Amino acid sequence: MPTKNKKTSKAKATAKTTTATKSEDNKDVEDDELFKELLEDKDEDENDKSEEDSAQKDSLNEDLDARLSIKYNIRDLPGVGATIAKKLCDVGYSTVNSIAITPSRILIEEAGLGDKTAEKIIHAAREALNIGFKTADSVWERRKSLARISTNSTDLDNLLGGGGIETGSLTEFFGEYRTGKTQIMHQLCVNVQLSKKEGGISGKALYIDTEGTFRPERLIQMAEFKGLDYREVLKNVIYARAYSSDHQIMLVKDCMKIIVEKNIKLIVVDSLISHFRAEFIGRGTLANRQQLLNLHLHDLLRLSEMYPELAVVVTNQVQSKPDTFFGDPTRATGGNVIAHGATVRIYLRKGKGEQRVAKMIDAPNLPEGECIFALTEGGIVDVDH
Ligand SMILES: Nc1ncnc2c1ncn2[C@@H]1O[C@H](COP(=O)(O)OP(=O)(O)O)[C@@H](O)[C@H]1O
Ligand SMILES: [Mg+2]
Repeated sequence: MPTKNKKTSKAKATAKTTTATKSEDNKDVEDDELFKELLEDKDEDENDKSEEDSAQKDSLNEDLDARLSIKYNIRDLPGVGATIAKKLCDVGYSTVNSIAITPSRILIEEAGLGDKTAEKIIHAAREALNIGFKTADSVWERRKSLARISTNSTDLDNLLGGGGIETGSLTEFFGEYRTGKTQIMHQLCVNVQLSKKEGGISGKALYIDTEGTFRPERLIQMAEFKGLDYREVLKNVIYARAYSSDHQIMLVKDCMKIIVEKNIKLIVVDSLISHFRAEFIGRGTLANRQQLLNLHLHDLLRLSEMYPELAVVVTNQVQSKPDTFFGDPTRATGGNVIAHGATVRIYLRKGKGEQRVAKMIDAPNLPEGECIFALTEGGIVDVDH
């Protein structure tokens, strides 16, 4: 495969972001620029693919178009001329679906539309997609179209309903320090790239790292353990370090612009609330923090609703001395905001040695249950029974 200079410099820049430290302000700027560059970079990637790949991609795109209702062009909506269409596309609202499910306040703020215009466009988008009351069979049709990404452990996949984490929803893994949350996120970044037959959905991952614990080395080990070419695997993981809660919120808003173009099928936020927790200290700030967190979580939820082929996964901490603060040790930070936001929640705790226990805490259609898996150099694996 011919190496392009642009790609090489980008790869270096990506490597650099992984070692950036908080204290170096100019690195923050560099990272911002890199992320922007990635957002703006619409050309490449597509060119180097084999014919087989492009045939597969065509069918994927057709499939995606049908599900995302790209068959309706946003310019077909009454009131959307070239200027408004550009404003919307520039901030990532390029599908009728994305407009239909976004609150008008957000469209007004982000695309700079007038109140009336925004309401009219949203209303038209909802009409076009026939959003309103529907029968359970059409809901079932959507549910059937959702896919799964394997965690690499059959037991953990089964706990999640068989096959792994589901697209079109928000999954939360929470637990104490070193319970394997970050390892699972890395594993999903590898596995999302696999074909359906192998437990993936042939897509790329976008990793938003708030704690600086992302390690390409781990991706390499996991890829090699599965016999994959790690260079390819690394190229398919887009990384962004979030330096503050504001930055994190911005990155999530920005990623909308690249989901379809870059074939992103997994968004990871590891971890969801550490910045919020560090920045909002003291009781007086709690309401404010929860409100911001709620909005952020809804941005993430909306992404999973907009793109049925996209899985959104977040990690969350539990308090280190849970009984001092909470009665229930399995309670994650973030309180009700997150409890009500995530679709599926899994609690992780340590077992013997490299073993970890996962417990299904909350899922709309799954029984409560537990399973054991192991954290190894090669990644997440089943424990021999
Ligand atoms: N290279 C490796 N080989 C084997 N196990 C590893 C390796 N790297 C990390 N681990 C395991 O992962 C654990 C850390 O898990 P991590 O996902 O980082 O925890 P957290 O829940 O805090 O995100 C380590 O304690 C270790 O058990
Ligand atoms: Mg971690």
